[in-house]
Formats: sequence, C-alpha cells, structure tokens
Amino acid sequence: MDIKGTTKITGVFGNPVEHSLSPVFQNAAFQATGLDYVYIPFLVLQENLKKAVDGIRALNIKGVNITIPHKSNVVKLLDDIDDDVKILGVANTILNENGILKGFNTDGKGFIRSIQEDGGFTPKDKKVLILGAGGTSYAIAGRLIKEGISSLIICNRTKEKAILLKNHLEKKFTFFPVKIINFEERKNKDLLNGVDLLVNTTSCGMKEGDELLISEEVLHKNLFVYDVVYNRKTELIKMAQDKGLRHLNGLSMLTAT
Ligand code: ATR
Repeated sequence: MDIKGTTKITGVFGNPVEHSLSPVFQNAAFQATGLDYVYIPFLVLQENLKKAVDGIRALNIKGVNITIPHKSNVVKLLDDIDDDVKILGVANTILNENGILKGFNTDGKGFIRSIQEDGGFTPKDKKVLILGAGGTSYAIAGRLIKEGISSLIICNRTKEKAILLKNHLEKKFTFFPVKIINFEERKNKDLLNGVDLLVNTTSCGMKEGDELLISEEVLHKNLFVYDVVYNRKTELIKMAQDKGLRHLNGLSMLTAT
C-alpha cells in the first residue's frame, strides 16, 4: 500500500475490532479503484468515545464506521444525522464534511439487500424472531418493519433493553405488534413455531466456545437463519447448514452496504 502526504484516512471505531474484516476489504477496494485512501481499525473504549469522535475532527479523518458497542452512544456526539439514524436511533457510519460530522446507518439497508439478493428471502408478511437488542438489532428490526413483516419477537439477555427497543419501535411504527419473550424462553421447544426468519444480532458466536443461544431441535425446515456474526462460522450457522436450512452470515450484509 502506497501511503503519501495526500492519503486520506478512514477506519472503524469499536471494541473489539481485531476480528473486523472491514480493513481488509476496504483497503483492497481502495487499491483496486486507485483511491488515495487508507482504512484503519481503531480500538475505542466506551469511556474514550467522545475523545475519539473529537479526534475525527482534530485529525481530519474523512470518515469512520462504528461498530460494537458504540452505535447508539455515538449519535448524540454528531452534528447531523440522516433519516435512518433519526428513525433507528443508531449510526454505523460517520462522514466528516469540513469538520461537520454526519451520521448514517447502512446496517438495515445492507441487511435487507443481502437477505433479498443473496438469500432469496422476501421479508414481507413474514414472522421474525430477533436475538439481541443492541445497535444492530435496532437497525435490522426497524428496516424489517418498513419492509412489511407481519410480526416481530425480541429475545434479549437483558430484558430492560428489549423493552427499550420495543418502545422505540412502537413509537416509530405505531400499531406494529412487537412481542418480547424472556431470555430463558429461547429454550422452549415451540420457540420458532410459525416463525419464518431467525436473526442473531448478538455477539454470541464471535469467539470459539461462546454459548449457543438456540438449540437444534427448535430449528424447523422452513426457517431462514441469519447470523450477523461473520468473523468465523458460528455454531448457529453450522447447525442451520447441517439441517439444510437457508442461511446467511453478516459478511453478506457488510458487503451489501
Ligand atoms: P451492536 O451495536 O453490534 O448491536 P451492542 O449494542 O453492544 O452491539 O449489543 C450487543 C448485543 O449482544 C446485546 O443484545 C447483548 O445483550 P445484552 O443487552 O444483554 O447485553 C448481546 N450479547 C452480548 N453478549 C452476549 C451473551 N454472552 N449472551 C447473550 N447475549 C449477548
């Protein structure tokens, strides 16, 4: 890679970031297109997020992606946000326009495009269960509702966060039915009865030995399994594959944005 005085800096803020594939394919894309840009992984601790965002201006960084766990907290630090961020409350991309920081969210769009184009799955009128209630879950749930799903179930380890997400969605999409189930209920045999799409938005599966949140017996043959984790083949994806179910991981979402 040819870094010069003119090279413009971009990157990703997150914790962890070691697993991120973005630097690999973003730098490859810059090289292939001949753009004078570089993409750097920045490990940003929660308590340093404000300083890091100020650093975008101070260091004239052109833009950054935002990942776990900053997608929600970063919003209040920005100068301007697009309509998706307004609706979803989470941003995954910041653009620096002469010191004005504008937030965007491409997660939801990337998810929809990937599940439709790579997965051949049409969300309209489908029943969905989402594991997790973090930033990614806000973006994906919001987009799925916009696409016309018929119902949504949220299951999260911390129930309070699931309630916040439900309240947020019901405020934005009045009358849309959002159901919360307790985290323990994910073990129920009939958990996925009638459900068309299961989406894991938690970080479970990123590391070998992570707990598998769903048991094999609840997966039925009509289910589509989407795991946003992409740094390794998760046990959830292995299980879906072994059972012959349609499935996708988050790489397809990342490259679709
Ligand atoms: P992101 O912005 O990528 O969604 P996040 O906001 O930090 O990241 O959210 C991470 C999600 O993974 C949360 O739903 C979190 O559950 P809690 O709300 O209970 O923290 C979930 N998560 C992370 N580790 C988990 C684990 N070991 N078991 C179950 N859920 C987990």
